[in-house]
Amino acid sequence: MNNNKGASPLAELQGPRPALGWRMNMLHFFRSPFRFQRQLYEQYGDLVSLGTTDKPKTIFAFGPELNRQVVANPDYFEMSTALVKIPKDTVMGQMFYNNLILMAGEKHKQHRRLIQPSFHHEQIVQYSKDMILLTEQLCDEWQHKQEIDVNAEMKKITQRIAVKTLMGTYKDKDLDQIGELISQLTKSLLWVTLTPVDIPYTPYHRALRIAGQLNDYIRSMIDQKRTEPHAADVLASLVKAHDEDGAKLSDEELVGHTFTLFVAGHETTANALTWTIFLLNQHPNVLSNLIEELDGAVQQGTVSMDKINKLPLLEGVIKESLRLLPPASIGTRVTAVPCELNGITIPASTNVFFSQFITHRIPELYSEPNRFKPERWLDFKPSPFEYLPFSTGPHMCVGWYFAMVELKIVLSILLRRYRIGITRNAKISPNLMMRPVHGMPARIVKQDRAFVREPVRGTINELVDF
Ligand code: HEM
Repeated sequence: MNNNKGASPLAELQGPRPALGWRMNMLHFFRSPFRFQRQLYEQYGDLVSLGTTDKPKTIFAFGPELNRQVVANPDYFEMSTALVKIPKDTVMGQMFYNNLILMAGEKHKQHRRLIQPSFHHEQIVQYSKDMILLTEQLCDEWQHKQEIDVNAEMKKITQRIAVKTLMGTYKDKDLDQIGELISQLTKSLLWVTLTPVDIPYTPYHRALRIAGQLNDYIRSMIDQKRTEPHAADVLASLVKAHDEDGAKLSDEELVGHTFTLFVAGHETTANALTWTIFLLNQHPNVLSNLIEELDGAVQQGTVSMDKINKLPLLEGVIKESLRLLPPASIGTRVTAVPCELNGITIPASTNVFFSQFITHRIPELYSEPNRFKPERWLDFKPSPFEYLPFSTGPHMCVGWYFAMVELKIVLSILLRRYRIGITRNAKISPNLMMRPVHGMPARIVKQDRAFVREPVRGTINELVDF
């Protein structure tokens, strides 16, 4: 498949060719990512080129078969760093480039082997205890609130869970402070890429300072883990990890992986929680059935990972939310050499997008694809190329089980204690990263089961049939 013998000519590939060219297309894409992708798929089919006919800069590859061709062939379709450029010889560069997502081949395999044990079932059981405590703590804080922004609160809880389970930090002050530093650093990456000038008061200068602080902090935590043989957090497990041939992660690699695990893990999970709460709010019958299922399982006593892992409706609700509004709605690779997609040769260095958003809504795979139907998951097992909220292939999310357990724990505690009513007529519009760009305002009251669906405005109405 990935050699170019007997391939069809590239000129056969269709796509929009606006007067102002490729940039105009990308502008449409970033402005209305979902509408734009739907138009491409409906008008041009599963393989679409943007740019000139002979040298497209970008290809969109839609549907399960193309997902397979792109994601399962990492030697041809590589991870791309084109969007972010950080000088490698800075502390920030060391933190950013030492990560699984950007590694390839043997090095990637070796690092995954070292990291994977931190995400095995027995480890997650340990982390789940922190997840439960921190969610209950958030519920207690909510006692003094009536209005919240659901997305901001979900970010708060996933950030706390990430810092605690990754680094074992116990002090409340540290939990929020470290989370905040990491968030500030990731937010500044665009400016760092655009203006890499180290002059006081520039975003680059500030980002370097924050990276330095974080680096010092994570290194001090690494030293601490070496003196705590029984610590049960991810960093402790990474410090202890070694390969069959004795290979271990260097301190620089440990810092990079800790940073990436935090970045890759907390915002995606926060957005998944936000949309699941939203979809339940818009489907009161499902919410009512879910609370009944949760009550039945948790009756007296507390939530535990064992109890909530056995609940079919909770599982279906989360899978359906990740299908309809996937936090990683699109993935990207770049062609390492000229290679084929559907028998057409794509030149080297072309950006190739594959789309969870489009795949998850193909009517031949999912009946009534724009509706929220958790019950479809009771007897439905799509292939990994048909349902891929955590991607698939060698770079599949290493934290997928961690995320599923976290989603289940946070939802089962919050929903039993509070009724979260999204504000009537609020403007709810997700961006490409599935973040609600205007937030998600809501009123919270103690759970009284008086569920009502309030209509909302915004582009969410184009994405879900209520
Ligand atoms: C709902 C939550 C999450 C979603 C939707 C999600 C989604 C994804 C996706 C789609 C990828 C692959 C990207 C690609 O193929 O281009 C990925 C990779 C990754 N994720 Fe997640 N993720 C989530 C939570 C987490 C958590 C909680 C962690 C860690 C604690 C994590 C750590 C990672 C890492 C390290 C990779 C890179 C794996 C590699 O390249 O080998 N993710 N994630």
